[in-house]
Amino acid sequence: MEQRASGIDGSLGTGNGYRPAGSTIGDAVSDGGFALGFTQKAPRAHPFLFAENLTHSYVVAGRALRLFDGLSFALNAGELVAIVGQSGAGKSTLLHLLGALDTPTSGRVVCDATCVTTLTRKQAARYRNLDVGYVWQFHYLLPEFSAAENVAMPLLARGDRKSEALHSARSWLERVGLSGRAEHRAGELSGGEQQRVAIARALITEPKLLLADEPTGDLDSESAESVFSLIESLHRSREMTTVLVTHNMALARRADRVLRLTRGKLEEVSAEAV
Ligand SMILES: Nc1ncnc2c1ncn2[C@@H]1O[C@H](COP(=O)(O)OP(=O)(O)OP(=O)(O)O)[C@@H](O)[C@H]1O
Ligand SMILES: [Mg+2]
Repeated sequence: MEQRASGIDGSLGTGNGYRPAGSTIGDAVSDGGFALGFTQKAPRAHPFLFAENLTHSYVVAGRALRLFDGLSFALNAGELVAIVGQSGAGKSTLLHLLGALDTPTSGRVVCDATCVTTLTRKQAARYRNLDVGYVWQFHYLLPEFSAAENVAMPLLARGDRKSEALHSARSWLERVGLSGRAEHRAGELSGGEQQRVAIARALITEPKLLLADEPTGDLDSESAESVFSLIESLHRSREMTTVLVTHNMALARRADRVLRLTRGKLEEVSAEAV
């Protein structure tokens, strides 16, 4: 899939209507040079996902906590990128901005030629449901519902028929190695199994972008390895771009690139330096 995007001059033809990921933008997009501040191995043109000059502040007790300082980065379609950084650096906040769960104080995020930061509430909900899959450190499954029902939720939320959604959910559970657990309540599964269910739930809509926030953070080392390998193999077997936040440097090194969030900026680090 070829993406066309311009640089920070604002000439990208986005923001004037939401297009689900995968739709083509054709000639509507100019072919200006891509010129973000952060480079190294970063793509020079046609990024799938990019952020420009992001700033983000939280105001707590009347005082502003400024997290990002003109943060910019770009990812190619199909990349698996790990984001590392100290606790409190803003990694989860960054994923929220990429996934339209929050909007930056200034700057913009563009995903598959859609300006995520200017979506209306309704468009943002559609983007979150159709284009993005999320996996969190704590899986946030509904414990009283079966594994299959949990996985089917995003399809039910978009109005699919229950029987079809459950059918699809069972086939996803098979893909993540849980065919024998489809009717178990989520609360009856092990931590590693619950995270596999969460991965199936994230991917059932076939999103173009997977955002994973410490998906192995709550698991023992063996389960962490197996959950990471599952994400990696699903990523490699599909046309998907993945951003994975982790504190586990051994796992981060297996990504295509590692970016470190430090002092409000993202910088690329070599695998040896991780
Ligand atoms: N809703 C909020 N309101 C106010 N401050 C917030 C909010 N969310 C996060 N913060 C603050 O922003 C900073 C960054 O938080 P964030 O959760 O993004 O960090 P992180 O890099 O993901 O950390 P960790 O590795 O511990 O998960 C923290 O200092 C946190 O206290
Ligand atoms: Mg976090």
